[in-house]
Amino acid sequence: MTTQFDITLAGAETSFKCADDDTILRAGLREGLGLAYECNTGACGSCKFELLEGEVLDLYPEAGGLRAKEREKGKRLACQCVPLSPCRIKIHTGDRYKSPFRPARFRARFESYRAITPDMGVIAFKGEERAAQFVAGQYAMLTLGAGPHTRAYSMSNTANDEGLWEFIIRAVPGGAVSPLFSQLNAGDEVEIDGPFGVAYFRPEIARPVVGIAGGSGLAPVLSILRAAGGDTGFSQALSLFYGGRGPSDIPDIPSMLGDVACRVSYHPAVSVTELAQEQGWTGEVGFVHEQLPSKLELPLAAYEYYMAGPPVMIEAVVRMLVADHKVPMDQIHFDRFF
Ligand SMILES: Cc1cc2nc3c(=O)[nH]c(=O)nc-3n(C[C@H](O)[C@H](O)[C@H](O)COP(=O)(O)OP(=O)(O)OC[C@H]3O[C@@H](n4cnc5c(N)ncnc54)[C@H](O)[C@@H]3O)c2cc1C
Ligand code: FES
Repeated sequence: MTTQFDITLAGAETSFKCADDDTILRAGLREGLGLAYECNTGACGSCKFELLEGEVLDLYPEAGGLRAKEREKGKRLACQCVPLSPCRIKIHTGDRYKSPFRPARFRARFESYRAITPDMGVIAFKGEERAAQFVAGQYAMLTLGAGPHTRAYSMSNTANDEGLWEFIIRAVPGGAVSPLFSQLNAGDEVEIDGPFGVAYFRPEIARPVVGIAGGSGLAPVLSILRAAGGDTGFSQALSLFYGGRGPSDIPDIPSMLGDVACRVSYHPAVSVTELAQEQGWTGEVGFVHEQLPSKLELPLAAYEYYMAGPPVMIEAVVRMLVADHKVPMDQIHFDRFF
């Protein structure tokens, strides 16, 4: 039995209900409000709010998204706080944060797992009585079993009526959750909560699309290319730049793209020279974004960018695109995989 509390947004004086087993961020997004956020995991700090009245439980007080000084001043992270009473909060909002589909929580059954590199696999779940509704490029929060650990994973497939949710998950050494996915068995269940994320495909923007991914950042970029190259009527050129440390980190991406592969100009690169030499790699060596200026035909400001991967990779690409090539920030959409 859960208790619902009213959360009032100071300034707008709008309020919404949040159950005591939900976070303030996700409950607000479920109600169609545009509460500011990015990662949903306590790392980016975009969802910070000021608690003006009321009491909250902080699920992750060590989260890196807030500095100690900010905590002392009463700041909290909406993605990590559940209410213990009615609350009045001050938080940044904007229409761009409203999800095209209202996020919802539901049970899903494990369907299959297929390894695509030594440490990454494609894993599929089937939702109970529910079509898989999301925009290509979005992510969901996955909770395994009854465990307390919830992590963000981006869908690699596209929306469908069969209720299939596919993810590409990299087993992080020593990670609390990610290594467990390759050990699931038939009948195992997860909780899926989603969709979330604002780095999704915008087919109405008539610019050629460049997808950039490192490691498991492939998932949302693959989803976007599948949607763009599918039957949405999107006719602009599509490119994919994919980077791994060594050749064994590069999955067979053309076969994963399937029917869409013929529309995608694909540029893989590995970053560790020794691994490239040891494993007989004859392709490009270097960081993935270094390939862009020589491989793209038009000036870089002519493209729409969708990317995902480690924060350090995203920051390097954004710096290069904005500072060196004058790409406007609103043409760059990304999820940092904290
Ligand atoms: C938007 C987004 C999309 C992502 N998509 C993918 C994807 O498609 N594929 C993929 O492989 N990975 C993805 N990730 C990374 C993924 O969510 C995990 O961080 C990764 O799998 C490692 O998890 P772990 O539990 O194994 O490692 P851990 O080191 O145990 O945890 C990793 C992260 O979990 C969070 N965390 C740790 N402890 C807690 C806690 N007590 N409470 C709440 N949060 C905590 C922290 O942010 C930490 O960085 C994504 C991340 C984000 C933010
Ligand atoms: S959305 Fe809460 S810290 Fe990133």
